[in-house]
Amino acid sequence: MRVIIETDAETACISAARIICDQIHKKPNSVLGLATGGTPTRCYQELIRRFQNGEIDFSQTRSFNLDEYIGLPEEHPESYHAFMKAQLFDHVNIPAGNWHVPKGLTDDLTRECERYEAAITAEGGIDIQLLGLGRDGHIGFNEPGSSLASRTRVKHLTMQTIADNARFFGSEELVPRLAITMGVGTILDAGHCLMLATGAGKAEAVAAMIEGPVSASVPATALQFHRNVTVLLDQDAAKLLKHGDYYRMSENAQRIIDNSMGV
Ligand code: F6R
Repeated sequence: MRVIIETDAETACISAARIICDQIHKKPNSVLGLATGGTPTRCYQELIRRFQNGEIDFSQTRSFNLDEYIGLPEEHPESYHAFMKAQLFDHVNIPAGNWHVPKGLTDDLTRECERYEAAITAEGGIDIQLLGLGRDGHIGFNEPGSSLASRTRVKHLTMQTIADNARFFGSEELVPRLAITMGVGTILDAGHCLMLATGAGKAEAVAAMIEGPVSASVPATALQFHRNVTVLLDQDAAKLLKHGDYYRMSENAQRIIDNSMGV
């Protein structure tokens, strides 16, 4: 894992946007895996800013979101469909048919899960997957106990996740209990996993993800098996890392190497 500890959340989000832009410059028809929640919103603002400045073109990109609540119509302001339109898709030139969010309101959820997996495969797989981290160690909505080989399916949210997401809905009662989510195995198939975690509330989960034993109890630890993971943190999220100084030192060395190679 490449662990990058930035000075603050703002810098971490801007670095995430830069990495996504670098991917699109390298491969204009990249398949992006996208996340929702509070953490990536600043990153999406930066992508919009770069688009408006003519620095980035989304016209050939395709995208797949990690997850969607079950039972919310797409127009519901807290559906991830509506979130992504408001936070990114309505402000950049990704064609409407190119972005995908699982359908959380359908008669046949099993078929929707299979359809979503098949659609990712048909587009050639995800080149870069943006991830946030749940305080309970989830990625996507792969809650503790999720199979580390799981594919897109329906999951129950933990009480921790329901409490954390109540801030978007106004109360815990209004948070849907079920979600459709890419599996851990689906996420691990991405070419590059880009984890963005900020704030002291994530510090425990961050330490477990990077330094803890791999366990289905902390699904994000599965990223330790992936060959190309970048973790972007702020100081608060990094504060419980045992080897924080080592990650800072090796990242400084890496930046010197990158600069000397003109990366
Ligand atoms: C969202 C998602 C979740 C969030 C995680 C962190 O699509 O898959 O795993 O990334 O719950 O959420 P925030 O950023 O709100 O702390």
